[in-house]
Amino acid sequence: MSDPIQTEVHRIAAAPARTASYEADPAEVNRVLLLYSGGLDTSVMLRWIADEYGAEVVCLTVNLGQPGEDYEVIKGKALQIGAVECHVVDAREEFARDYIVPAIRANALYGGGYPLFTALGRPLIAKLAVEYARRTGCDTIAHGCTGKGNDQVRIETTIATLAPELKVIAPVRSWQMGREEEIAYAREHGIPVKGGTEIAPYSIDDNLWGRSSEGRWIEDLAHAPEDDVFQLVTRPEEAPDEPEIVTVTFERGVPVALNGERMALVPLLEKAAAIGCKHGVGIVDHIEDRIVGLKVRDIYEVPAAAIILTAHQELEHLVCTIHQNQFKKALDQKWGYLVYAGLWWEPLRSDLDAYMDAVNEQVTGTIGLKLYKGSVRVVTRESPNAVYDAALATFAESGGLFSQTASPGFIELWSLQSRMAHQLRARRRS
Ligand code: ARG
Repeated sequence: MSDPIQTEVHRIAAAPARTASYEADPAEVNRVLLLYSGGLDTSVMLRWIADEYGAEVVCLTVNLGQPGEDYEVIKGKALQIGAVECHVVDAREEFARDYIVPAIRANALYGGGYPLFTALGRPLIAKLAVEYARRTGCDTIAHGCTGKGNDQVRIETTIATLAPELKVIAPVRSWQMGREEEIAYAREHGIPVKGGTEIAPYSIDDNLWGRSSEGRWIEDLAHAPEDDVFQLVTRPEEAPDEPEIVTVTFERGVPVALNGERMALVPLLEKAAAIGCKHGVGIVDHIEDRIVGLKVRDIYEVPAAAIILTAHQELEHLVCTIHQNQFKKALDQKWGYLVYAGLWWEPLRSDLDAYMDAVNEQVTGTIGLKLYKGSVRVVTRESPNAVYDAALATFAESGGLFSQTASPGFIELWSLQSRMAHQLRARRRS
């Protein structure tokens, strides 16, 4: 350690007043499982925890399908900085099957536009942290979330729910280092820093189901998106001049084929994302009500979700009755809110899943979508379970189950109360 005053600042920051029962008492921290991404925050954190707590640090890096990561490099970096172990877990299949599929069945879109990829990933990452902490003899889990976001809520809720014996440390909430100080700390301690002190990057989070960018000009609501934020999806104006039709086939609410080709879930999601990226679909410029009270702007790129959720919603609508369709919307919204809010383990979520699963028993069929310069539009629908009969829907003569001569009788009874109420009010006014 160099500067003694700085060291004192860090010491104090390591032992802030503890508010919650699951926050670690520095005196009792011996071995820490750190959720490690390989970025600046968690790299500095790895060394900082070892020094400030005198603890051993075991790193865990979770692959949820974030593009462009080299996990060998991340692992090498963790060990170089001083981790006693570094585990890399490929959780893509579990993420797709147990987190994204339920979200598809619930048509999950928070605030009307955010398909929850981060919110779905955090409970899985935290569940794996609990498993690895227990397996490697750690008493504490550390993460790199700030005190202003939803991710701390999702991660700590999961840990406190699944493992009441484990404690948590969240250094970013207390260490009072900004980006410049972190870079200085890294330099001082021989921690490799990508790039230099140039302009702070966007704050990015991504996985199989989408990518978010926050920070910089995004915080200025009057600032229209700059091109460099789009690192995943082609800008719509540069997308191909020819539209493309893609079909998505579902069995019981699970996507099983693209363009008639059966695929396992992870490659299917990756393929859908690639097609969506090419046509510039899934860009969402979103103002969001965070669970910690703040209103924040996010730029999302969600090409796979834009295709698959649109198709699922349409197919579900086709196979359900008017009553199911009206009712499920409210439950979908509740599901999305619980998951956004970090309550993945709340029993109401699994209660709702029981309903989602029941409805999705019928969600089998194929939806065709036309992708063109940023837009996704349903163009064809097929299902053995469609509550639809072309012969009944046609404008031609009545017949079969539908008698047009029965309609006036229906209309008289259907409108009875509304007509009576209207007349009562009219009489009172005159
Ligand atoms: N606003 C989104 C959410 O709360 C995305 C958060 C992204 N997280 C991050 N650490 N950059 O789920």
